[in-house]
Amino acid sequence: MGPRAALSGLALLSALSLGPCLSKGPCGPGRFPNGTGTHLRCCSLSAPREAGKTYAVRDCECVQPEYHCGDPECQSCKYHPCPPGTEAQPEGKLTYGFTCVSCAVGTFSQDHQGRCKPWADCGRFGFLTKFPGNKTHNAVCLPGPLPTEPHSWMSTVLLAVASCILVLATIQLGLHLWQLRRQPVWPQETQPLLEGLPPPAEDTCSCQFPEEERGERLEEKGRPGDQWV
Ligand SMILES: *[C@@H]1O[C@H](CO)[C@@H](O)[C@H](O)[C@H]1NC(C)=O
Ligand SMILES: *[C@@H]1O[C@H](CO)[C@@H](O)[C@H](O)[C@H]1NC(C)=O
Repeated sequence: MGPRAALSGLALLSALSLGPCLSKGPCGPGRFPNGTGTHLRCCSLSAPREAGKTYAVRDCECVQPEYHCGDPECQSCKYHPCPPGTEAQPEGKLTYGFTCVSCAVGTFSQDHQGRCKPWADCGRFGFLTKFPGNKTHNAVCLPGPLPTEPHSWMSTVLLAVASCILVLATIQLGLHLWQLRRQPVWPQETQPLLEGLPPPAEDTCSCQFPEEERGERLEEKGRPGDQWV
């Protein structure tokens, strides 16, 4: 039952993850290719933004590196490389020309594609940020908290103290167990002690011991007896 359930779960999982992959194509989910060669672009139908406006009837992106939409409707692609750290910005109305403008803060472009992409958000994946990123370089994440020098010293000391306490506790426990095991070897040693106890009968209640104290004492001496059985 267990393995079978796990297997069917796995099958379901792979089906779920395979589904979008198969429907993706070269343009990703919800986007479809249009054009060929350098004019190949990926478009989505979801962006007929405002009817009546001249720009971007469709949300398209040219696929070939260093090519950009050559007109507002992206019916063709134009070649315009940009140096790292800059982005190709279209200029014009019916046909575009391009200038390379600096990447906005929080984005980078490390090649000549002229497309600035956002820096990786290390914190989102539980990583530390080693380098926040700049216009030409993505952020660099660290897989897990990297302790600084004083921090690592502190944790070493703490670890040492913790291990010391653990070792001491273990030794004490061992001694205690050894003591408990040793006792049955000389039962006559403890037997008279137990005999000397007042019987837990009603008449002993006249003793001056408060109830609690008596109970404690009884328990204390009664404890080794428990260990024998
Ligand atoms: C490609 O886009 C043009 C207009 O940009 C459109 O007329 C044509 O039908 C599209 N082709 C496909 C296969 O979607
Ligand atoms: C961006 O960061 C990289 C890597 O740290 C460095 O080599 C480069 O000089 C930086 N560029 C700028 C403009 O700060």
